[in-house]
Amino acid sequence: MNEAEVTEQVAVIGLGYVGLPLAMALARHQPDDQPVVGFDIDTGRIAELVAGHDRTGEIAGEALAGARIRFTADPAALPGRTVYIITVPTPVDEANQPDLGPLRSACAVVGAALARAAATPSRASSRSSPARPRR
Ligand SMILES: NC(=O)c1ccc[n+]([C@@H]2O[C@H](COP(=O)([O-])OP(=O)(O)OC[C@H]3O[C@@H](n4cnc5c(N)ncnc54)[C@H](O)[C@@H]3O)[C@@H](O)[C@H]2O)c1
Repeated sequence: MNEAEVTEQVAVIGLGYVGLPLAMALARHQPDDQPVVGFDIDTGRIAELVAGHDRTGEIAGEALAGARIRFTADPAALPGRTVYIITVPTPVDEANQPDLGPLRSACAVVGAALARAAATPSRASSRSSPARPRR
């Protein structure tokens, strides 16, 4: 057990210069059986991270191998998280206007995950006995 362990179910969306080190830092506080979900649409990036290689050079291979992070490009891994952190690019054009396309796309993926989780009855709400009133 980690002394600063947290119980949030975290997903980091976009594993670049910001997202990967953030996911690594958060993963240090997760229990062994509750890894951070690290999601990226770049399947090549995911394959590299699973193999222990960070092309940005921010994280060493040994650290990646031992991290409590589930690297994935599969949106099916996202429903049921309690915290979603989006760290995708927002490049600006010549007029300094940001391209919000990646952010909108990431929000759509998170929205779909939230909708899917909301449509799935939780164990607590599917019990046959009525809930006790709060005092
Ligand atoms: N890099 C920095 O030093 C820095 C500093 C401050 C703020 N920021 C901001 O942080 C954000 C992330 O920057 P970065 O440097 O980490 O970017 P990056 O380009 O290094 O990484 C972004 C990652 O997001 C992934 N991605 C793109 N669209 C996606 C989507 N729809 N769903 C999931 N993943 C997606 C990419 O495949 C890539 O791996 C940007 O808004 C940037 O402006 C970056």
